[in-house]
Amino acid sequence: MSPTPHPELSDPLYAALRRIAFSKEPEAAHDWALGWMSKPWVASMLARRYRVSSEKTVCPAAGLAFPNRVGLAAGLDKNGDYIDALGALGFGFIEIGTVTPKAQSGNPQPRMFRLPEHNALINRLGFNNLGVDHLVKNAENRRWQGKLGINIGKNASTPLENAHSDYVHCLERVYPVADYITVNISSPNTKDLRQLQHGDALAELLEPVMNRHAQLASQHQGSKPLFVKIAPDMDDSAIEQFIQVASTYPIHGVIVSNTTSRRDLIDSHPLAAEAGGLSGEVLRDFANDRLSAVKKRLPANWTLIGAGGISSGQDAATKLVLGADLVQIYTGFIYHGPRLIQRSVEATV
Ligand SMILES: Cc1cc2nc3c(=O)[nH]c(=O)nc-3n(C[C@H](O)[C@H](O)[C@H](O)COP(=O)(O)O)c2cc1C
Repeated sequence: MSPTPHPELSDPLYAALRRIAFSKEPEAAHDWALGWMSKPWVASMLARRYRVSSEKTVCPAAGLAFPNRVGLAAGLDKNGDYIDALGALGFGFIEIGTVTPKAQSGNPQPRMFRLPEHNALINRLGFNNLGVDHLVKNAENRRWQGKLGINIGKNASTPLENAHSDYVHCLERVYPVADYITVNISSPNTKDLRQLQHGDALAELLEPVMNRHAQLASQHQGSKPLFVKIAPDMDDSAIEQFIQVASTYPIHGVIVSNTTSRRDLIDSHPLAAEAGGLSGEVLRDFANDRLSAVKKRLPANWTLIGAGGISSGQDAATKLVLGADLVQIYTGFIYHGPRLIQRSVEATV
């Protein structure tokens, strides 16, 4: 079944490409599409077709000047292999990763599933990536001028109690090439990772990470913003506690949210029993609810980035109304293509 059409996103070229892509297995489609997009003639054709208004606006957030408020969420370009190609589509910022110190292959396939009836995906990729050194080389060689976020995580083989050493290692490697860094403690696909969002485990992670961050800031003559990305599956009291602990450290903000473990949002869908994180349109209202819950408790100097279920320009604008400074898109981009970036940028100026 094809996804529900959004009139503002009508795009015959993307509709044709999506038909081909969706005839392939999801991961094969991902590699196929990104492979084409990074051919120079395709990239320049796409850049011309999907150019986002060249009006020079600057959106300040976390001490950075973003070209616009619409970013690519982490996980689509895990290794930073496609920064220039994706940047040409009009994103104001791109978050690459999640990257881990060592390369790892992730969970066994199949591990990504489309739910087109819901404009949604379930994934349990498990931080498949080529390791931080590969990503850093790509980040160094980028030509794109937008802001680059780098999302860091831990290897599956690293015990949870040593997680901080993986995050510190990645932080050190990516610091010189990132515009901002995201500490991802909210993937449902790395065993027990989400425990790092709570209480002592959170403090034991942030203490060494923020100490090293302070040293790096003085070494490199400038502090780069550091965000923490959280799951939507946190109730008000878990959010309260998270902010209480996190705000004792000089972090710069929070990304709300990662994918959800909830399945009631897709109730009787035949793929509902697949393990992994659910993303896309069905996540929107839940992610927005959690965004508001975080906003209510947000320390005054923190930046808030809203992600989850953006499928129209209006959805992007709603996140700003709820208190986000910036927004990120992943699944909506797969279903609707680059028009969604354009419409979201226009709706959030
Ligand atoms: C296939 C897939 C892989 C993802 N991988 C990551 C990841 O490596 N790191 C991360 O922080 N978030 C990852 N995410 C979560 C997204 O960045 C985003 O937070 C979430 O999907 C909600 O946004 P969306 O509804 O626009 O997709 C992934 C999402 C998908 C669909």
